[in-house]
Amino acid sequence: MTRHTLSQQEYDEFCRFLAEASGIELGPGKQYLVSSRLGRLLDEHGLGSFAALTRRLQDGADNALRQQVVDAMTTNETMWFRDTYPFEMLKQALLPELGAGSGPLRIWSAACSSGQEAYSISMVVSEFNVNRPGVLRRPVEIVGTDISPSMLQIARSACYEELAVRRGLSAERLQRFFRQRGGCWEVVPEVRQRVRFTELNLLSSYVLLGRFDIVFCRNVLIYFSPDVKRDILRRIAQALNPGGYLFLGGSESPSSYTDAFELRRLPQGVIYQRRPDWRP
Ligand SMILES: C[S@@+](CC[C@H](N)C(=O)[O-])C[C@H]1O[C@@H](n2cnc3c(N)ncnc32)[C@H](O)[C@@H]1O
Repeated sequence: MTRHTLSQQEYDEFCRFLAEASGIELGPGKQYLVSSRLGRLLDEHGLGSFAALTRRLQDGADNALRQQVVDAMTTNETMWFRDTYPFEMLKQALLPELGAGSGPLRIWSAACSSGQEAYSISMVVSEFNVNRPGVLRRPVEIVGTDISPSMLQIARSACYEELAVRRGLSAERLQRFFRQRGGCWEVVPEVRQRVRFTELNLLSSYVLLGRFDIVFCRNVLIYFSPDVKRDILRRIAQALNPGGYLFLGGSESPSSYTDAFELRRLPQGVIYQRRPDWRP
């Protein structure tokens, strides 16, 4: 692979493209990150420099290249039952509270990466149905979305390598919710059947996803500017039913961006609730 470096101007132009396309703000001094993640792509497309890449991206004709570049620039770090407390809260507070409503209980895993969060939610539902039969009287629908086609491909395959299943799964859950197939661990149909995945850029409209009772939007807002965070949080509030719940990552909070949510402290941790009287 040729080693491609970026001038300051090339870097600034690339950052502008990436922020417009995905909301991701790289900030200063990440030239090395860009060149290490995209060097191979430049070679594959016969592009001699980052200036040539940005020109190709800006002329808008090559949608596949645009998608590959954004995909390569996303950080997809995730794990099963990440942070533990949201899944405990789901089991101990939210499923009992929402279990008797009408229609399906709808949960959105926004920025789901390779699917671990969405399948973890579904495993909690399976466990809940065994431990507290009859409490959850509605079917549960889980929608996982991400901007990254390569992560969604893994999520849809529901097949995970040894290294991935070691991150956050107990031996008991591994045994109960996975089958070994070929060289990978496959999520069982009971857990898969509640979950569907669809490609969605958080900068675009959420209207086609419908309304949700609970949204997980964790460890993604950190990549965005304050204006983008404000816009996304307002539109997530619109996608939630009044009184619906929002989980954010540990270092994230909606309070400086919108008054749509109320902080709720439960024994398991904090969650944000759409104010029933909030008007978009
Ligand atoms: C660090 S992972 C977090 C995954 C999961 N939510 C968790 O907490 O484990 C961030 C994810 O956000 C996705 N992402 C980044 N920008 C996005 C955007 N504009 N729209 C949708 N997803 C985006 C990335 O592709 C990546 O999979």
